[in-house]
Amino acid sequence: MHGSSSLRVLKILVVLFCSFTWLCYGADLLDATKFSQTLSKLATEGLGVADLQQEFDQLQFNEEPVNGTEIILSLTANITNKFKERFNVVRQLKQAVEDAYSRSQSYSRQWQCCRTQDFSYNLEYDSRFRQKVDVTKACLKTSGSARSNLRYLDDSFVKTMEQMLNDFPFIKWQYFGSEEGMLTVFPAFEDKATCPGYDPRYRPWYVETATPEPKDVVLVIDTSGSMSTTLMNVAKEAANTVLSTMNPRDRVRVTNYANAFNAAFRLLKKSYPGQGSTRNMVIIFLTDGTPSDDKTNIMQTIKDRNAELHNKVIIMTYGILVNKNILLDIANQDGTSYGVSMSPGVTPGKFTSVSDTDNLRNAMATYYDSFSKNTESNNPIISVPYIDAAGLGKLKTFVYFLGN
Ligand SMILES: *[C@@H]1O[C@H](CO)[C@@H](O)[C@H](O)[C@H]1NC(C)=O
Ligand SMILES: *[C@@H]1O[C@H](CO)[C@@H](O)[C@H](O)[C@H]1NC(C)=O
Repeated sequence: MHGSSSLRVLKILVVLFCSFTWLCYGADLLDATKFSQTLSKLATEGLGVADLQQEFDQLQFNEEPVNGTEIILSLTANITNKFKERFNVVRQLKQAVEDAYSRSQSYSRQWQCCRTQDFSYNLEYDSRFRQKVDVTKACLKTSGSARSNLRYLDDSFVKTMEQMLNDFPFIKWQYFGSEEGMLTVFPAFEDKATCPGYDPRYRPWYVETATPEPKDVVLVIDTSGSMSTTLMNVAKEAANTVLSTMNPRDRVRVTNYANAFNAAFRLLKKSYPGQGSTRNMVIIFLTDGTPSDDKTNIMQTIKDRNAELHNKVIIMTYGILVNKNILLDIANQDGTSYGVSMSPGVTPGKFTSVSDTDNLRNAMATYYDSFSKNTESNNPIISVPYIDAAGLGKLKTFVYFLGN
């Protein structure tokens, strides 16, 4: 046993040494005898392997039997407790948000996190957050595409969050992301990011909570028509936005074939588990003009292909700078204007006319609204670990989805 531990040290040395030698001289220059002499010299003189071994040999060991069942039971109990505590916190926060919303609107002294320097925040270094924070105040992060008439949470809500941090010192950031595109963060911190750069609606914890059911999404960007380079770039950006809203269990494929719907349905069909499946299936179709194919043919293709998938596919269409009826008909899967009867049981999607290219990102990023549950869930959702935008490394978030 003692011999094997010193062998392992040597093995690591050999690996390090070889890569160094090859990099510098090439393997053919290696003299095996010299190499082994150098290695043992390094082990004894450089690392003191022999001395270490002597120390190890003198150590006293006691054998203690370990009861695996007992460890597992204790671990289970500990993990259960840990989750229970965090669920408790998020439940109380949920209640506090609901209370704040039910009170008459009163504005509090919250400013943008990127401007805490300019206002009366008292920022002090706090090791729990690894940066300067003000543990008596909240600050805001508002998206550039947030709605006007934002609803602010009042001072009592901030007081509740302060109380939570005192009562449960293990928690980190507490935040509330609204559907309007604003995030209330507690404690306030000095945000180095540019002011309107953050949108809570694209964060993993938000999207995952709003659409916890897994979904299959095919994104179709029509390049057959007149799409200019600028529009193509906007489309690509929008595609990236959609990708950023995917939760880890979603499967995504991007296609730009002319015969787009055929290809899109084919992709969905490949991963279709059968009639009992509860996965949401979505085709997102983005175009800047009338599709170049024959319209009857398009509607018939959609009808036939969706029938193969028990009409479970929802189609969302986005027209950049156009407002064409065909896009509305495709979203509704209604081909009656082109002599293709409508299948019973299809779920209509939504057509969005994007007149302003700046608006495209926002419009597409919230495509999931049409099948998000829109009802309160009884249980909090724990997000898959993700990298904290405020620099706390990998985080898990406990989230509640509040319905309307
Ligand atoms: C291990 O722990 C479990 C649970 O406490 C107990 O039922 C079992 O008898 C223990 N086994 C041994 C070998 O001590
Ligand atoms: C569970 O928590 C208790 C109390 O904090 C601790 O003493 C114990 O070692 C933990 N059990 C395991 C398996 O880590």
